[in-house]
Amino acid sequence: MRIETRLTLSLAFCLCLGLAISAYISFQLESRQAKEEVQQKADMLLETGLAVRAYTSDEIAPILQLLQGNAGFNVQQVPSFSAQNAIARLGKKYPDYQYREPSLNPTNVKDRANDWEVGLVRQFQSKDTLKELSGEIGEGLDKRFYVARPIRLNNPACLQCHSTPAAAPPAMVAKYGSVNGFGWKLGDVVALQVVEVPSQPAEKKAFRSVLTTVGSLACVFVLSAAVFLLLRRHVTHPLERLTQTANAISVSGQAQEAFAPAEAGQFSELHEAIVRLKTSIDSALKRIAAFSKPDDTAGK
Ligand code: HEC
Repeated sequence: MRIETRLTLSLAFCLCLGLAISAYISFQLESRQAKEEVQQKADMLLETGLAVRAYTSDEIAPILQLLQGNAGFNVQQVPSFSAQNAIARLGKKYPDYQYREPSLNPTNVKDRANDWEVGLVRQFQSKDTLKELSGEIGEGLDKRFYVARPIRLNNPACLQCHSTPAAAPPAMVAKYGSVNGFGWKLGDVVALQVVEVPSQPAEKKAFRSVLTTVGSLACVFVLSAAVFLLLRRHVTHPLERLTQTANAISVSGQAQEAFAPAEAGQFSELHEAIVRLKTSIDSALKRIAAFSKPDDTAGK
C-alpha cells in the first residue's frame, strides 16, 4: 500500500473516530442540558403549587370561613384543590407538564398514590432529611421524567379537616365521606407534590442537536478533504511534474514529455518555458563551441 493511501486511510479513520467521540460527548451534554431544563420547569411548578397552597390557606380560607362559619365548607378553601386546579389550567400552555398531590390515604380518591408514588412516599417517610427525588419511570414512548417533594403536615390548621370526621366541617364529610383523608398527624409526610414530564421531547431535542453538531463537523471535514484534493490535483501534482522535468534536464540533459503537466495552464506554460530555456541554452552552447573550435586549430 502506498504511503499516501495509508496516510489517507489513517486520516479518514481519525476523522470518523473524532466524529463518533464528538457525537457521544455532544449527546451527553445535550441530554444533561435537556434534563436540567425540565428540572428547572418542574421546580418552578412545584414552587407555584406551594405558593397557591399558601395563598389559599392565608387569603381565601379565612374569608370563606368568615362568610360560611366553621360548619360550612367550600372546596375553594382547600389548598390542595386550589393548587391542583390552578396548575391544571397551566396545562393549556404546557400540556406536557402534569402536577399531582398523591397520598396513601387521600380525601379525594383521584389523589390515591399509584405503585411508584407509594414507593416515593415511603422513602420520604423513612428519611426526614430527604427533600426531593427525581428520576425516570416507564418504558419507550411512555417514559417520563418526574420530580417529587414531600408534603409534611406542619400546620395545625390542616388538622381541622384531616384529623377526625367529627372535627371536619359536616358539609365536607357529606361530600367526601368519613373514611378517607383522616387520621393524619402533625409532622407526617401525608402526600407528595409530583411533576411529571414525558422524556421523549427532551430526548428528541438532544438527538436533533447532536445531528446538527455532527452534521456540521462532517461538512467541514468533507469540504476540507475536497479542498485538499483540488490543491493536490491542480497545484502539488503539476509542481511535482515540473520538478521532475527540471531534474531530468539537469541529470540526463533531456526534457521528457512524460513529465509535462496534464492540464493546459500556468504550470504547462512554465513546463514549456523550461523546455524552451533548455533548447536556447543548448543552441547558445553549440554556437560558443563553434566559435572556439578554429582558434584551437590555429594554436596547433
Ligand atoms: C377545610 C378543610 C381542609 C383543610 C383546612 C385542609 N384540607 Fe387538605 N383536603 C381537603 C379536601 C376536601 C381535600 C380533597 C380536595 C379535592 O377534591 O381535590 C383535600 C386534599 C388534600 C390533599 C391531596 C390528597 C387528598 O387527600 O386528596 C393534601 C395533600 C392535603 N389536602 C393536605 C392538606 C394540608 C397540608 C393542609 C394544611 C395546610 C390541608 N390539607 C388543609 C380538606 C382540607
